[in-house]
Amino acid sequence: MAITFGGDEKGEIELRDFLELVDKSNDVMSRDVLISHAGHLRMLSNNRQFLANVIIGELKNIYDFQPKNNYTAQTIMLGGVAGKFYVRANVWLPARLLHPVNYESEKRLYSFERGHDHNFEFITAGYLGNGYETHIYDYDGNCEGYVGEKVELKLLERTVLHQHKVMLYRASRDVHIQKMPADDFSISLNLLAPPIPGSKQYIFDLESQRIASILRANYIGQSWLIEAAGYLCNDDISDVLASIAGRHCSAETRRAAQRALAVRYPDLFPER
Ligand SMILES: [Fe+2]
Repeated sequence: MAITFGGDEKGEIELRDFLELVDKSNDVMSRDVLISHAGHLRMLSNNRQFLANVIIGELKNIYDFQPKNNYTAQTIMLGGVAGKFYVRANVWLPARLLHPVNYESEKRLYSFERGHDHNFEFITAGYLGNGYETHIYDYDGNCEGYVGEKVELKLLERTVLHQHKVMLYRASRDVHIQKMPADDFSISLNLLAPPIPGSKQYIFDLESQRIASILRANYIGQSWLIEAAGYLCNDDISDVLASIAGRHCSAETRRAAQRALAVRYPDLFPER
């Protein structure tokens, strides 16, 4: 079974108090710290007014909608501290509300029928509607991480994120698939830890049990910066690049630094 929190908190909490409580936690948003806030997240899900207030505020400034929202169109950012934690609401549309022409893209946006993991830990609570149905698998995140790599996926549970249910998704461990669009308009609340440095988020082919594609990885953004340094920087940056090439936690980032060294200092660091 995936990790579901069985508490029965009846009280409510305001969003600002929830954010303050989480902010008072340890600086590192570990799994244990997230778990310690499972009851608070359920109390936030008991508060039937706060999200309406947020939405009203956003609607009043709709031309300046969510300027700090780096997530997809299904997400409303509710707060957090950069690099420490984030709180957001996710909207799950029923099939009848998916775009009639752009149906396949929207299914991808909402992760329907795409097995995926997350490269960050988070707890989630059902807030509105029947919630999405999800099938959760477990895998060993210590794979090499290339497309086509075989991974063993073990089915843990088929479940529905109904209102006030609180669950934990473990980074690079839990793989899930939203089976079909939710029955009705649904919203979940998430408390997220930041992405684990050097980690990737994958799409999985559940039938063949292989990595189908890489959805997100820090190195994608870092690699071009490092490679550009090889072409643009005139100052001696061999120390910086050599340090990244030797010690960075991501193999792809190390390789990017090696390529940049080969471009910038071809005599000293010939391309391998
Ligand atoms: Fe997901």
